[in-house]
Amino acid sequence: MKYKQELAETLIEALEHEIQVKDIEMLIEKPKSQLHGDLAFPCFTLAKLKRKSPNVIAQELSEKIQSPLFEKIEVVGAYINIFLNKKLVSEAILAEITKQKEQYGALAIGNNHNVTIDMSSPNIAKPFSMGHLRSTVIGNALAFIAEKCGYKPIRINHIGDWGTQFGKLITAYKLWGEAEKVKQNPIKELLTLYIKFHEEAESDPSLVEQGRSWFKSLEDGDEEALSLWQWFRDESLKEFSRIYELMNVQFDSFAGEAFYNDKMDRVVELLEGKQLLIESDQAQVVELLEEELPPCLIKKSDGATLYATRDLAAALYRKENYEFDLSLYVVGNEQSLHFKQLIAVLEKMGYPWAKKMVHIPFGMMLKDGKKMSTRKGKVVLLEEVLNESIEMARNNIEEKNPNLSNKDEVAKQVGVGAVMFHDLKNFRMNDIEFSLEEMLRFEGETGPYVQYTYARGCSILRKASGYTEASLQASSLSWEKEWKVVMLLTEFPNAIKRSFEQFDPSQIAKYIVDLAQAFNKYYAEVKILEENAEQQARLALVSSVTIVLKEGLRLLGIEAPEEM
Ligand code: ARG
Repeated sequence: MKYKQELAETLIEALEHEIQVKDIEMLIEKPKSQLHGDLAFPCFTLAKLKRKSPNVIAQELSEKIQSPLFEKIEVVGAYINIFLNKKLVSEAILAEITKQKEQYGALAIGNNHNVTIDMSSPNIAKPFSMGHLRSTVIGNALAFIAEKCGYKPIRINHIGDWGTQFGKLITAYKLWGEAEKVKQNPIKELLTLYIKFHEEAESDPSLVEQGRSWFKSLEDGDEEALSLWQWFRDESLKEFSRIYELMNVQFDSFAGEAFYNDKMDRVVELLEGKQLLIESDQAQVVELLEEELPPCLIKKSDGATLYATRDLAAALYRKENYEFDLSLYVVGNEQSLHFKQLIAVLEKMGYPWAKKMVHIPFGMMLKDGKKMSTRKGKVVLLEEVLNESIEMARNNIEEKNPNLSNKDEVAKQVGVGAVMFHDLKNFRMNDIEFSLEEMLRFEGETGPYVQYTYARGCSILRKASGYTEASLQASSLSWEKEWKVVMLLTEFPNAIKRSFEQFDPSQIAKYIVDLAQAFNKYYAEVKILEENAEQQARLALVSSVTIVLKEGLRLLGIEAPEEM
């Protein structure tokens, strides 16, 4: 809905084009309470410009503006308050949503350019952590949101499958491992071996040396080392894919750290060519003095490469293969320094596209106020968490709607959706407290609450016969009671835009909670299905609400069952 623009244009006209549309639009506010209208224009800025009192300007201007879209104009002090024409606005927006359906809210800002999204990226031979869950859920939502904005998202799972830790793991496996046990419970067993390695290494420093040498063998392509590594990797990915399947997340690429093994020499050569590589403590580093960052380590004294080296190779590879317009890295905020260094090194190398790389950090998942850690054996197995949530959702269905036909599917949609929504409704930088009870509540700001509201809308629509656009216009509805819902519907494209610009899916999560609340309030007050001249118009509203709720959930990667 372009009523904000309409107001801006009328104002410009009244001001005889003394000021730009953009400048005016920025000044337009939304009153806190609808009692003060739907739009407000404060005249302070104009007062300075014209050297007149703001109250006088407000009065003068208000007399000059008019549009069929404005029902009433009120001046309060320095403010011009605009009341929109409810009938006109409501009918227009409902017709628009009815026509566009799930396309409503789509923005043409991306020009079909590629956006790479580095997301999830768990480490093999280790449990999928809460941090990886957050990265998966936030990255997945950003991919959908980018797509809605006209970009082409490319989901990349930068699997942590290379590094000195695999030398340690091979050492541990060779010393104490049993193939049978690993086959039965791969990640748990490999983690146990890894922990044992660190415990034993405290009293036996030679283990560290063995670990280093196994990693060297791995980097040199030693057959035994490689086949063990491959096995650990395959088993780990099997476990991870069960989680992705539960969450319905797909990737375009699983090119992880190991994928860049044969692409790192080039990075080193490029750095040498640009005279950026210097020796420090026998290691090769890039100094980042002007950037006031610690040096970025490229190669260790024994020639082994590092996490940063692989990320440099990955950035080049992504630029060359995907020609990205934007390259996002959804990774916990504890890696902020790493990404600052990465981007700084690429800038030093003279790549202007380094400016298009964005680290999207997020806070921690807490349990009883403490970090959920995978170390020291204190493992929180995500798959168990998801299954528990599904189980709880199932119990809920059993209690509330025992005759539901596709219980298993709905339980999965609700249980998994609850975990995802709980993550996405908070601004990503906030730490969040993990509580299944909280996530699965049917009231309050939860996924099930929004899903339930959607299902309620669907149920109303099932009970009524359809409506037509003509009957929508013929209605005598005053749109008073519907107004809050209508105004929220007009806001959907803005919520999408904000969430993309700020890489913040919580804008959409909060938006759909607001819409669900407003709709439920309306549902409690109005007999929607009552057969009279207004029924069709009310049904158009219900239908639009369901379209937007479903699409909002979809943008967060969450499914919307029609019945639950
Ligand atoms: N595997 C890493 C970790 O678990 C995250 C990788 C993030 N992506 C990247 N390109 N560095 O900490």
